Amino acid sequence: MPSTPAPAGAAPDVHARTLRCAIIGTGAVAHLHARAVAQHPRAALVAVTDLDRTRAEAFAAEHGGHVHDTLEALLAAERPDVVLVCTPPGAHRAQTLAAFAAGAHVVVEKPPAPSLDELDEMRAAAAAAGRRLAVVFQQRTGTAAAHVKRLLAAGALGRPLLAVCETLWFRGDDYFAVPWRGRWETEGGGTTLGHGIHQIDLLAYLLGDWASVEGRLWRLDRETQTEDASTATVTFAGGAVAQVVTSAVSPRQVSAIRIDTQKATVTVDHLYGHGHDDWKITPAPGFESEAEGWALPADEERSDHAPLLRDVFDALLADAPLPPTAADPARSFEIVAAIYASAAAGGAPVTPADLAAHPTHRGGFASPVTDMRPAP
Ligand SMILES: NC(=O)c1ccc[n+]([C@@H]2O[C@H](COP(=O)([O-])OP(=O)(O)OC[C@H]3O[C@@H](n4cnc5c(N)ncnc54)[C@H](O)[C@@H]3O)[C@@H](O)[C@H]2O)c1
Repeated sequence: MPSTPAPAGAAPDVHARTLRCAIIGTGAVAHLHARAVAQHPRAALVAVTDLDRTRAEAFAAEHGGHVHDTLEALLAAERPDVVLVCTPPGAHRAQTLAAFAAGAHVVVEKPPAPSLDELDEMRAAAAAAGRRLAVVFQQRTGTAAAHVKRLLAAGALGRPLLAVCETLWFRGDDYFAVPWRGRWETEGGGTTLGHGIHQIDLLAYLLGDWASVEGRLWRLDRETQTEDASTATVTFAGGAVAQVVTSAVSPRQVSAIRIDTQKATVTVDHLYGHGHDDWKITPAPGFESEAEGWALPADEERSDHAPLLRDVFDALLADAPLPPTAADPARSFEIVAAIYASAAAGGAPVTPADLAAHPTHRGGFASPVTDMRPAP
């Protein structure tokens, strides 16, 4: 039945249709995507695929959707509106390109790719197909992060000066026993790319463009090809200096950011997601009276996959630009890439211009890791 055109100037009707979603890779993180799809009133999971058909069938039995043996068969049979890519990073580029070629939008898990060149290719394919590429960096979501970003952008807290960004996690040998993990070829990088990128992304979301990175990669205890820890100094174009520490060997785990500004210290301490209780804004002496105006809003939403996918789906339904929580996938990815590039140069500073013209690191992050383990 032909639809009646909306009157000129009318807002697009976001309730006019349902987004048909497909999930590629039905492992751990895919469950968060399926739940987020189920929570959205105008999205439905229509199909899934995984190299492991038994896993895909169990997933479909829990969340719904037809099971297909391959992505190609799924795309041909279902013509989904959105493909949610939940496979290991090494598979993201080819699957994203296939989804764009079939006319779908793509939501891809972090890290978006194992190299800058591959992310460039994915973004170019999105532009050529007239489709959107949204990357899942769900730490940007939540009402507290939005509030702090607004305060910083408005200058309410003065200029950001110093930051500390910690991803101190614990992953045992069993975690690295999964074949694609801990190897340059399949994971693209170690704990910096796989874990630290979440907090680094939130830091860059709050502080903006980066100016330089000096980094080192360490192998402290795990039997991996990639690093199990990294340390870096990151400077931002706005003048802030950050220490960034990432580890997969830290028994008391924390994900934390601290930003000291001219008027306050902002902290968030959590593990995999943050709510208002995890954030604190402490005024500097003399700025106590301004602190009332910095209070978090009364309505709270925690950071999570669901608010990110909700806002992405709403944007797709309204044919609007992606929300800031899903846009600019390259900024934090570049900081991570620069940590690897700097480590490859013995810890020398790397700038955005260095990275843009880097002879090898746009193609992959494999870098020397300093092994600190005692000789056997
Ligand atoms: N945003 C987050 O908080 C978060 C959390 C965990 C993982 N991740 C990311 O999600 C992605 C997947 O991680 P995971 O922990 O779910 O991994 P996983 O190993 O649990 O699941 C990956 C699934 O993909 C399937 N697969 C692999 N290659 C495939 C291919 N070519 N075609 C179809 N299926 C294929 C595997 O069989 C497996 O079922 C990674 O990029 C990871 O970094 C993000």
